[in-house]
Amino acid sequence: MPVHILAIESSCDETSAAVICDGTLRSNVTATQSIHEKYGGVVPELASREHLLRIIPVVDSALQQAGTALSAMNAIAYTAGPGLIGSLLVGSSFAKSLALAANLPLITVHHMQAHILAHFISDRRPSFPFICLTVSGGHTQLVLVKDYLDMEVIGETRDDAAGEAFDKTAALLNLPYPGGPLIDRYAREGNPKAFHFPEPVVPHLDFSFSGLKTSIRYFLQDQLKKDSAFVQKNLKDICASVQHRIVTMLLQKLGRAASYYNISHVAISGGVSANTGLRKALQDAGEANGWNVFIPEFEYCTDNAGMIAVAAYYKFLAGETAPLDSAPSPSLSWC
Ligand code: KG4
Ligand code: ZN
Repeated sequence: MPVHILAIESSCDETSAAVICDGTLRSNVTATQSIHEKYGGVVPELASREHLLRIIPVVDSALQQAGTALSAMNAIAYTAGPGLIGSLLVGSSFAKSLALAANLPLITVHHMQAHILAHFISDRRPSFPFICLTVSGGHTQLVLVKDYLDMEVIGETRDDAAGEAFDKTAALLNLPYPGGPLIDRYAREGNPKAFHFPEPVVPHLDFSFSGLKTSIRYFLQDQLKKDSAFVQKNLKDICASVQHRIVTMLLQKLGRAASYYNISHVAISGGVSANTGLRKALQDAGEANGWNVFIPEFEYCTDNAGMIAVAAYYKFLAGETAPLDSAPSPSLSWC
């Protein structure tokens, strides 16, 4: 009997549902909330309300696109955290109601572990142990992945996440939220060496991005005093230079981790892994160091339920189900 799982992701501002059958993804439907653009960031209360509006049609489409029905499911999975509590509650309450109504086991999934397990959606997969650099809007982590459900955080940011560094830079440049993809787009036509931003000295495998944000702010203030049109005239070069600095900071620690643990399978995941500069730099570093590099397809970089479904599948195989009174947590610890 094939194992079918319906998975729901609602940790931030994407409402997503996916169906996985025996480890093969059958559908992955994501509704992105554009309402936050005008506020320059995700407004938690609005995000919860948008999830409420979208969750039924999104789950319906995921079942339809997979050519299946709730009655064929063997389990229901949801993102248990970390994330915005109001948003998490919509997904978890919905998943728990479905599990109760259909008398199905429930599976809780850690959002960051799911970003890593997104590498097991495609046919080309890393082998254990591998190192994964997980870069999203809320996290920047280096993870030693020993098995599907056995992972160890070996380095992380001490302040801002890499995605926040992109988004806050974009805000300083008056670009709309989320700024990461826009910086990426402008950077493609800019000179990465045009402006130099300092690189912080952070011990071990940890990261820090808040100093970069401050140096960009002071740099822009100085330049704008001399020429009020500085940003318009130099937007592409500023974006390319900032992106270059963030990418070199990430790659430097990733390289240090790979050589310290003597591991040659190296992956990236999370929203920032959609960044073309990071993807290219990882390919180049892979060639230079003899690594096997793993880069998710764009669809599985930013938040999606496909990654929750694949993580849930491995938890199901391991017999890791959750009780109906399980609750999400905004700061869910690594398990
Ligand atoms: O993983 P994700 O979808 O949500 C969280 O779990 O946080 O990551 C969202 C983050 C945002 O900060 C967004 O600006 C960034 O990923 N991002 C990018 C790109 N696409 C998304 N940053 C740089 N370049 C991109 N192409
Ligand atoms: Zn995420």
